[in-house]
Amino acid sequence: MNAVDLFRLEGARALVTGASRGIGKGIAETLADAGCDLAVTARTTSALDDTVRAVEGRRRKAVAIAGDLAEQGVAADLVDRAASALGGLDIVVHNAGVTPMDEDGAPVVAPLQDQRQEVWDAVIAVNLNATAALCRAAHPYLADSDRASLVLVSSAAGLIGFPTLESYGASKAAQISLARSLAVGWASQGIRVNALCPGWTRTDMTAFATEAEPLSDWLASHVPLGRWATVDEMVGAALFLSSPASSYVTGHALVVDGGVSVPDAGMAGRTLPPSPFTTE
Ligand SMILES: NC(=O)c1ccc[n+]([C@@H]2O[C@H](COP(=O)([O-])OP(=O)(O)OC[C@H]3O[C@@H](n4cnc5c(N)ncnc54)[C@H](OP(=O)(O)O)[C@@H]3O)[C@@H](O)[C@H]2O)c1
Repeated sequence: MNAVDLFRLEGARALVTGASRGIGKGIAETLADAGCDLAVTARTTSALDDTVRAVEGRRRKAVAIAGDLAEQGVAADLVDRAASALGGLDIVVHNAGVTPMDEDGAPVVAPLQDQRQEVWDAVIAVNLNATAALCRAAHPYLADSDRASLVLVSSAAGLIGFPTLESYGASKAAQISLARSLAVGWASQGIRVNALCPGWTRTDMTAFATEAEPLSDWLASHVPLGRWATVDEMVGAALFLSSPASSYVTGHALVVDGGVSVPDAGMAGRTLPPSPFTTE
């Protein structure tokens, strides 16, 4: 056996949500590189033009499907249209997600007690309610596949405390929990379910921080690896979870966060005080 072949996905049918840009676009291109035909989603098909071109440039089929996951019924509709266009689904990477925003799409950076309930509801609607609906709709298609993998793109924010991102963190923690429950429930049907937990990654979602230099540097300084991630650093983990390379992995939360969620007892970057165990 050549272990590199375990990452090949020749002929697999994959759905990637939130694939117009950022991490989702990177994952869609990577799955195409591995041999998948793809259904890709965003709120408009025009936003998916670049992704479709990139997938077709890799000589794989690409179907663009539009739908706003904030609206009820859309998640299930996206799944059904993707399965119908590709003749079934083997891989679903549910990546679309949002952070707290106001009506104009500007980030809301305020602690929970200062946020309106509508901001919370909007995050939970997309990140959690649509995730559950999408998983429910994907189940029959994945159950029909002999290489089924469902990957929920969660976040390191689901593992740590982060004031001002309470709704986001709660929704991402819930995705990890959902992945674990579904992994156990669907294992006998041959469906693997895992979560991928990125840390701070340079995308449009985090532009409010990367474009504000003191904040950007401050956030990076709290990452043990000392920097922001690129989209390219997320796609390998997504390919691993989607492919036979992870055939015995289910119910796992794969953390790709430069160490930001590792409990460090406050010791990061600090010199330990002298102790009886200190040697020169
Ligand atoms: N960037 C980070 O630092 C980071 C860290 C941890 C986890 N994550 C997670 O990784 C995933 C991707 O993040 P990203 O940074 O790549 O985000 P991004 O650049 O903002 O891209 C978000 C994607 O989701 C789609 N989307 C947003 N709202 C949607 C809605 N209501 N209905 C349908 N599609 C919608 C967007 O499509 P359109 O806007 O074109 O419709 C876009 O394709 C998210 O789940 C995020 O929570 C990101």
